[in-house]
Amino acid sequence: MAGAIAYISRDTDGLAWNKLLAEGLGPIDFRTLRAGLGNTDDIEIALAWKPTPGLLASFRNLKMIVSLGMGVDHLLADDKLPDVAITRIMDEGLVGQMSEYALYWGLWHHRDIEKYAASQRAQQWKPEEFVDTIHRRIGVMGLGTIGQDTARKFAALGFPTAGWSRTAKTLPGVETFHGADGLPKFLARTDILVNVLPLTRETRGIMDKTLFAALPKGCFVINMGRGGHVVDDDLLAALDSGHIGGAALDVFNVEPLPPEHRYWTHPRVHITPHMAGYTNPRTASPGVIDNIKALRAGQPLKNTVDAKTGY
Ligand code: GLV
Repeated sequence: MAGAIAYISRDTDGLAWNKLLAEGLGPIDFRTLRAGLGNTDDIEIALAWKPTPGLLASFRNLKMIVSLGMGVDHLLADDKLPDVAITRIMDEGLVGQMSEYALYWGLWHHRDIEKYAASQRAQQWKPEEFVDTIHRRIGVMGLGTIGQDTARKFAALGFPTAGWSRTAKTLPGVETFHGADGLPKFLARTDILVNVLPLTRETRGIMDKTLFAALPKGCFVINMGRGGHVVDDDLLAALDSGHIGGAALDVFNVEPLPPEHRYWTHPRVHITPHMAGYTNPRTASPGVIDNIKALRAGQPLKNTVDAKTGY
């Protein structure tokens, strides 16, 4: 039998992956961190989510790392990461969930649902002034697969939608901006900001006081990228001053979010526990199976990660 496939995640037991990979590859030697990895010299492939730094380097015969998240910062944070191929999942299921998350909060804010909930609690029939959809400008930071899907769906609902990315991209129906020069113009026209950038050296802390100040007053911020994009004190100050109207946050600098963090009790912060996109083994496994077959056949791999750009 070929080398073992190790499932390295503390979050789930990996049974769904075991079943789907066995269906696609035939008999496999599947190991999990939870059940015990056995002799790690047997491990040829590691499916990993937030591995303990140094763990992957201890697998002496490792040939490929598969990131179980579309984001790979959790792997690149390991300064002992072994020099083997790194690929990441491309999961249309996760992509769809992420855009749902952004649409949910975008529409929630756009249609004043919080005000109506308060009116109901006060047993008040109180229609609010409405903002025409064509005047609610959506801005998506990060135009990878998830950002593109999100932008396309907002645009399909009739919102003027723009995207910002590091390098120039074009997307039908979506105005695009890029690079440091394009950022202020993009921000100035954004009423609902969605962040889905990868976390890299260049993007860490990008959501700071300069960025918030460049947004129009009352802008609603949705962060489903990474907590490391946000300078928390700057966001809290912008929320306290009322310049930022509200924030829906799924990701945090420290996860789980510490109990004493001000976000928990801030009246204009909405917290979810990094659930915007679950990796769905059903939709993510076909690409992983293809890559395992390609690796074993000496063929080129898909969805490889460039450690230099960080995604
Ligand atoms: C989740 O955060 C992912 O990177 O897929």
